[in-house]
Amino acid sequence: MNTTERDYYTDRTVLLDPYDWFEEMRAKGPVCRMANRDLVLVTGFAEAVELLNNAADWSNAISVSGPLLPLPFEPDAEDISGQIEEHRGDIPLADLLVAKDGTPHAQSRALISALFTPSRLKANQAYVTALADRMVRGVVAQGGCELIGAIASPFVTFVVSDILGVPEADRDDFRRIIDLAPPPGNMEAAPPPGKEAEWAARPRETEEVNPLEYMAAYFYRYISERRAQPPREDVLSEFAHSRYPDGTQPDIPELIRLATFLFGAGQDTSAKLIGNAMRYLVDVPGLQQQLRDDHSLIPAFLEEVLRLEGSTKVVKRLARRAMRVGDMEIAPGTKVVIAISAANRDPRRWEEPHAFRLGRPGIKQHLAFGRGAHTCAGAPLARYEVRIIFEKFLEHTRWISLSEDRHGTAENRILDFEPTYSMRGLANLHVELEPAV
Ligand code: HEM
Repeated sequence: MNTTERDYYTDRTVLLDPYDWFEEMRAKGPVCRMANRDLVLVTGFAEAVELLNNAADWSNAISVSGPLLPLPFEPDAEDISGQIEEHRGDIPLADLLVAKDGTPHAQSRALISALFTPSRLKANQAYVTALADRMVRGVVAQGGCELIGAIASPFVTFVVSDILGVPEADRDDFRRIIDLAPPPGNMEAAPPPGKEAEWAARPRETEEVNPLEYMAAYFYRYISERRAQPPREDVLSEFAHSRYPDGTQPDIPELIRLATFLFGAGQDTSAKLIGNAMRYLVDVPGLQQQLRDDHSLIPAFLEEVLRLEGSTKVVKRLARRAMRVGDMEIAPGTKVVIAISAANRDPRRWEEPHAFRLGRPGIKQHLAFGRGAHTCAGAPLARYEVRIIFEKFLEHTRWISLSEDRHGTAENRILDFEPTYSMRGLANLHVELEPAV
């Protein structure tokens, strides 16, 4: 074991700030092996794009359970696609949308796309605008708030609740349920290097409580009630009666998995983006005034934040066949961690990659929402919900600053990042809000 290389999954300094570590790994090449783990890491932009666009050779089966759990089989074929399908039921959470492959993935993704029709997104935008206005006015009237808990997190839960047509009366319950969840990818959930198999087999005295399971009970009720009635014009009814592109009807558990997965996928990702973006808005000299004077610059601002500080740090894939990625030979069954946050700072792709630059050419090619068959299905929603909340902050304030008591001065910031290996985001951000006159 190489003891000098810090471990991505358990070293607190890397969990809190991965960017130096990504550069150390990039120095080994755009595709390299993690010294203490049986994993390949991709930090190169071109290599990440090539891999993400190649769903034929790469499976997503481990994308939710992660690359640290041992596979439930010994890869023993030139193409392990058959083995993956045979053992899919033994890979935790491999039946969630993002972990599916091929036709089953395309079928489930079509059901999600049916929820995100242009007319549905338009109706949702009207809701989001009113919600953002109300929430921001509330915290401005108080002179400030802890942004993540008071705004970012409840705001994004309400937005997904609306997309799915959750009755207004239940939305506060959803909020409370989600508050119980730890941030995904926290270090307690990672086995120490070399202890993966032992850790996976450990007895569990108490099962972790998964808030999405509570939420599933609500969706079971909504969907089964509506299935029993003729279709009518409400989102949940349309969802309950939806069909796969081949005309068959999904079973109720599949619809429940999709609905709860949307809450998981759209929760911390969007909430953390709001926090990360606010920090840049306040700390990049001149930026706040520039955006306040011209709201049409907000989308470009958010794209640059997504590139520089996107909330998803890594995605994971499993090699079906032997192949080459960059200069590395990959065997079937190899688990690859694609550091999209590192690819988004690859100096071969981005000039001055660590600098914030508004209006960077080609900015929308960043990989913060992934690429290829599994590109984030909620990206349009994430883009407008975060744009709208920033429009409201800029409209209702004269000036926004961070609390110096909590976060020090701009030259010497003290920021509290979540120590997780999957997300990049702040645990809290205390903002002071001067009302617009
Ligand atoms: C800033 C906010 C967000 C970021 C950074 C983000 C990032 C990502 C990334 C990187 C993936 C690809 C995973 C992979 O390739 O393995 C993904 C997939 C996905 N995201 Fe997002 N996401 C965000 C917000 C949302 C929202 C708001 C929703 C919906 C409410 C959503 C729904 C999904 C879904 C359904 C997938 C799976 C797509 C598939 O497998 O076909 N995301 N997201």
